[in-house]
Amino acid sequence: MAIRKVGVAGCGLMGSGIAQVAAASGFPTVVREVNAELLDKGLKSIDKNLNRLAEKGTITEAAKDEIRGRLKGTTKVEDLQDCDVIIEAIIEQLPAKRELFGALDALCPSSTIFASNTSSLTIMEIASATKRPQRFVGLHFFNPVPVMKLVEVVRTIATEPAVYEEVVAFGTKLGKTAVRAHDSTGFIVNRLLVPYLLDAIRALEEGVGSIEDIDKSMMLGCGHPMGPLTLCDFIGLDVLYSVCESLYEEFKRDEYAPPPLMKRMVVSGHLGRKAGRGFYTYDG
Ligand code: CAA
Repeated sequence: MAIRKVGVAGCGLMGSGIAQVAAASGFPTVVREVNAELLDKGLKSIDKNLNRLAEKGTITEAAKDEIRGRLKGTTKVEDLQDCDVIIEAIIEQLPAKRELFGALDALCPSSTIFASNTSSLTIMEIASATKRPQRFVGLHFFNPVPVMKLVEVVRTIATEPAVYEEVVAFGTKLGKTAVRAHDSTGFIVNRLLVPYLLDAIRALEEGVGSIEDIDKSMMLGCGHPMGPLTLCDFIGLDVLYSVCESLYEEFKRDEYAPPPLMKRMVVSGHLGRKAGRGFYTYDG
């Protein structure tokens, strides 16, 4: 069965980006948030992105209107029931994800494919809240979703091979390079990225270099688009903290243990760019 209509649960930073990309790739897309205020905020950020693309001439005004026309926002979970695939990008908490998928499982036909954008939870733990673990995958996108070229497509021990191949093809139709990963905590990217970011924080704690010099070193010495401490701020220290806790819980390896400075930053609200302060301070 081909994927024709896309559902996205959650219209925050990741969900709005996924919905924008799905609609821009030609899929009628329904995006659901829990209340009108959050939905409006997410849809406004999509409008802002599309307006910027049109102003730069990357897309025409007509294309912008077509993309927007393919995108429908809703606060009703029932409005997702006729989608062929539903990609979940809600709060990174297992009980909330299990509850949502349990409800969707009861609503949707048995053919619907379920996908989670979780970055640190185990796909199987979420899939086991449904009666369709064979039609359940991970689809892990990267921030900012419209810009980053990668999607990790994650199979569990229960995912049916035909479903998996269909989702890999779908990832390509979204204009992303789809890589295949097993359901191992952190998949490929976070398994490799998180120890690097945590080591940058440890280097700072140990006085190896200043914030600016650690960042400059990796940008200019290794060609990274952002230094590691800027990237921590960009991801959000709270998000990163929960990812490294999941990795540490799973593997019990020191490289995933959160550095003390990070915990203190999280509890004091120095969460990075979204909070206006992290390793750096941000205006507006
Ligand atoms: N939404 C949409 N488009 C955006 C954007 C956003 N939030 N931010 C930047 N862009 C676009 C810009 O409009 C610009 O587009 P054009 O080339 O068409 O003009 C392009 O991206 C480049 O932007 P800028 O010139 O303003 O800035 P830049 O060259 O420094 O790029 C960046 C910005 C793409 C964010 C780049 O710094 C980068 O790649 N950083 C690394 C990001 C990264 O590592 N992301 C993964 C984080 S880990 C994660 O997401 C997963 C997890 O599980 C934690």
